[in-house]
Amino acid sequence: MSDVPVLKVEELITRFGGGPGQGVTAVDHVSFSVGRGETLGIVGESGSGKSVTAMSILRLVPRPGRIDGGRVELNGVDLLPLSEDEIRKRRGTECGMVFQNPMTALNPVFSIGWQMGEALRAHGRERNSSQIIEGSLAGVGMPDPQRQANSFPHQMSGGMRQRVVIALGLINEPQLLIADEPTTALDVTIQAQVLDLMKKLTSEKGAALLMITHNMGVIARMCDRVAVMYAGEVVEEAPVDEIFSNARHPYTRGLLRSVPDGARPLQKMPTLPGEPPDMSRPFDGCRFRARCEFADHRCSAHPDLLEIRPGHRSRCWVAQAGEEFGPQPDSEADNVV
Ligand SMILES: Nc1ncnc2c1ncn2[C@@H]1O[C@H](COP(=O)(O)OP(=O)(O)OP(=O)(O)O)[C@@H](O)[C@H]1O
Ligand SMILES: [Mg+2]
Repeated sequence: MSDVPVLKVEELITRFGGGPGQGVTAVDHVSFSVGRGETLGIVGESGSGKSVTAMSILRLVPRPGRIDGGRVELNGVDLLPLSEDEIRKRRGTECGMVFQNPMTALNPVFSIGWQMGEALRAHGRERNSSQIIEGSLAGVGMPDPQRQANSFPHQMSGGMRQRVVIALGLINEPQLLIADEPTTALDVTIQAQVLDLMKKLTSEKGAALLMITHNMGVIARMCDRVAVMYAGEVVEEAPVDEIFSNARHPYTRGLLRSVPDGARPLQKMPTLPGEPPDMSRPFDGCRFRARCEFADHRCSAHPDLLEIRPGHRSRCWVAQAGEEFGPQPDSEADNVV
């Protein structure tokens, strides 16, 4: 087996507005990779840069955003210099996506079957398309695939539509699936089913899954590794067990204060004390320091993201010095939003 990761993001920079050095750097030197059959979670508060990271990977950053640097390798090929045509060919086949709101991913005026057929046609897979479509609708648990293929989006429940979007994301058997908050519009029982389904379908095919969420419960349920984003940067990355048992960044520990206890696997993001930083102002030192109970004189310098033990990286001076943060936060649910 080759050890080239399916997705390798290196020093990615995406900005909105302004000339060099101005505007908002929504994604600031972000690096991570995802291997075959692996699920990487990206977690962080609202505005931390999760969706812009996903959109940058697919080269779908809306204007006035632009990618200003870095590499995005899909199966060893850097996507950033490719032509629009070449990148379009890769969307869907090499890399599928599932976004938050199924209604924006589906066209209201065409049947589900037609839209799935279109995804196949776009990649030259017209042959046996009805069979493929019905098979993939069955694969996401649709009770009557033939009937559902003939339905229109508004005739389905939210849970069914989201399953259709997942089927669409997977229909061309991509090696990478990017899911950005794929279940927030759904009720908790359906959320769990949809997540389990996505995990099953990707692991059966040995695909890589990049799972973006606010929700540490979703991370606990789905992921092998976790990258935590704060103010456009990755501040910690580690195997999921390490994150939950021995987080080495104060921000991650703040996120964990409400999770997980097995009984509440899908509870929402806790609110941390203090405000997220104003992204339009230049940063000085550690971006988390104004909210950090461990901040000291060292934190006026900006820390790098460094490996503090094998496979575990932290962007925190305290962690890098090997100092303790005290016991890991309890799973209290009293500050859940
Ligand atoms: N269209 C846009 N125009 C200008 N700035 C934008 C735009 N989209 C995103 N940004 C900037 O990028 C930052 C990151 O946004 P992003 O959507 O990636 O956050 P997120 O982590 O996905 O948040 P959420 O959890 O709410 O989805 C925002 O704080 C904002 O400053
Ligand atoms: Mg988002």
